[in-house]
Amino acid sequence: MSGYHHTTTTENLPTEHLNPVFTSENMAEVQVILKRYPEGKQKSAVLPILHIAQKQWGWLSSPVMDYVATMMDILPIEVYEVATFYTMFHTNPVGNYVLEVCRTGPCCLLGAEQVIDRIKERYNIHEGETSADGMFTIKPVECLAACGFAPVMQIREQYFEHLSVENIDALLDQLAATDPKTIGYVGNMPVDVK
Ligand code: FES
Repeated sequence: MSGYHHTTTTENLPTEHLNPVFTSENMAEVQVILKRYPEGKQKSAVLPILHIAQKQWGWLSSPVMDYVATMMDILPIEVYEVATFYTMFHTNPVGNYVLEVCRTGPCCLLGAEQVIDRIKERYNIHEGETSADGMFTIKPVECLAACGFAPVMQIREQYFEHLSVENIDALLDQLAATDPKTIGYVGNMPVDVK
C-alpha cells in the first residue's frame, strides 16, 4: 500500500501544480456547485469540487488541496481528510488511466485477483504504482456495487465489466490506443468486456 502515501512536499511537482488556479470553465462549474449550499455550509461542496480539481490536475497534490481549501474558505485539513478517505481521489501522481479493480468477495470468486495479477505482471508494477510509460496505475478497491457484472473495474466514472485474464490484455491495448480524455467521464456507458 506504499503507493497511497500522501505527498507532503512540493519538490518535483509538475509546474501546473505550483500556484494552481481553476480554469475559467472549471471555476464557473465550481461557483454553480457552491451556490447549491446555504451561506456557511460551503464545506458540503468539497466532494464535487475535488472531482473538478482532479479532472483538471490529474491528481490532488498538497498545493492543489490547499488552493481548494483557500478558495472554499475552509481549513486545509477539511480537504485533506476527504481526499485521503475516498479511493477515487488520488493524492500521489497517477497514470493516464487509474485501473480501480474491485477485489471484494464476489469479484474475487470470478477471478478479480487473477486480473489484478495479470495487470501487475504485464507492467511489472505493484499496487499503487504506475507503468513505465505513464499510462496505467493499478489501484485495487473495495466493492464497486456492480457485483452482478463481476469482475469489475472502474476508470474515473466508467465501469468495465466481466473482466478476465483472457480479455484484460486486449482491453488494455485498446485503452492505450485511445485518448484518455475520452474515457471515464460522465455520460460514458459501462463497457461489457465479455
Ligand atoms: S464485489 Fe466487485 S463490484 Fe461488488
